[in-house]
Amino acid sequence: MNVRWLVPLALGILAAAEPPKTNYDEAKVPAYTLPDPLVLSNGKRVTTTAEWKNLRRPELLELFTTQVYGRAPKAPGGQSFEVTSVDGNALGGMARRKLVTARFGAKAPPLYMLIYLPARAKGPVPVFAGLNFNGNHSVTNDPAVPLSTAWMRAGPGVVDHRATEATRGIEARRWPVPLILKRGYGLVTAYCGDLDPDFDDGFQNGIQPLFYKPGQTRPAPDEWGAIGAWAWGLSRMLDYLETDHDVDGHRVAVIGHSRLGKTALWAGAQDERFAMVISNDSGEGGAAISRRMYGENVADLNRNFPHWFCGNYKQYSSHVDKLPVDQHELIALIAPRPVHIASAEQDRWADPHGEFLAAKAASPVYRLLGTDGLAATSMPPVHHPIMSTVGYHIRAGKHDVTEYDWQVDLDFADLHMR
Ligand code: GCU
Repeated sequence: MNVRWLVPLALGILAAAEPPKTNYDEAKVPAYTLPDPLVLSNGKRVTTTAEWKNLRRPELLELFTTQVYGRAPKAPGGQSFEVTSVDGNALGGMARRKLVTARFGAKAPPLYMLIYLPARAKGPVPVFAGLNFNGNHSVTNDPAVPLSTAWMRAGPGVVDHRATEATRGIEARRWPVPLILKRGYGLVTAYCGDLDPDFDDGFQNGIQPLFYKPGQTRPAPDEWGAIGAWAWGLSRMLDYLETDHDVDGHRVAVIGHSRLGKTALWAGAQDERFAMVISNDSGEGGAAISRRMYGENVADLNRNFPHWFCGNYKQYSSHVDKLPVDQHELIALIAPRPVHIASAEQDRWADPHGEFLAAKAASPVYRLLGTDGLAATSMPPVHHPIMSTVGYHIRAGKHDVTEYDWQVDLDFADLHMR
């Protein structure tokens, strides 16, 4: 037992102090009731597209905003984009590389975007847009990509929270740029830490202070945390992409892994300009049902990552049944746009079955809006992707992004975004 819990044990208040044990036994998942995405708060059933669009969607969006991820501001008036470099002959001639700096205001750090497009594209191309964990230079071995100078999580090659050359290309395996380009897509990425460094800094070093009212020192309980800030940044990237003539702004798929998969879902749920959403192993607070007591739970999220969600989310740590929404409704907010949920067999912490069940429970909304929803009623075996408008796949292996995941995501994009 962890020493931290010995004192409460001695005092006989263990039950109150010890975090619940993680459940990995399907038979021990207690029964729960999901909120119905097609029933309004006043109890009325939603039966038409107009009722969904005008009543239920805004209601759910507001609940996710105030209770889960927090309210984010609009794009600041002073927002600007500067293309700092273009090379039509990058990556041995296969890519057109652009570096773009987004500026939001004097009191906020800039966001550096890295863009690779197929060099020989005949017109504007569809792109995948996603944030990365370790700086743009970690996504590729391309020496022309500047080393990130922002705060970096501790890890190999990181010294005093600053990236060194030793971290160049360390994430390249997770971003198969040549494959993406060969399939006719572009990739747009930026470092999440440019928007908000991923640690509990009291919201002093990211984008949030730019928007503080006089005297405000941290976000209010219904205002954005780190995931809200990251999702906001994805929308700002899209603001730029809509102006780039080499990119088809109507075919931008937002993609993310893990905490950045939670972020991709939230970005796609809010911003209907994203044509498609891909969530990779996003788990709790992402695609997985929160009410299912399997793997990570809301209390774990709030305890281990107090800066990710809004202040109001904390009240659901021990009362997940009181949460007015569940994550299938986050997926439903993306409807009728295609969404693909990816899980990994050994990623039990993220609850693959809970991710599947959320995709399934979002489907009635997709069907109301005239699509097929998820074309499966039970979990498929590994490596048997479901490619309906709500897509799902589970692969063998651990919490990760693999080339197989990308192959399925690209196939899914071919089907739904071409
Ligand atoms: C932790 C966290 C998850 C998150 C993951 C990640 O495991 O508990 O919720 O998805 O980190 O971002 O890698």
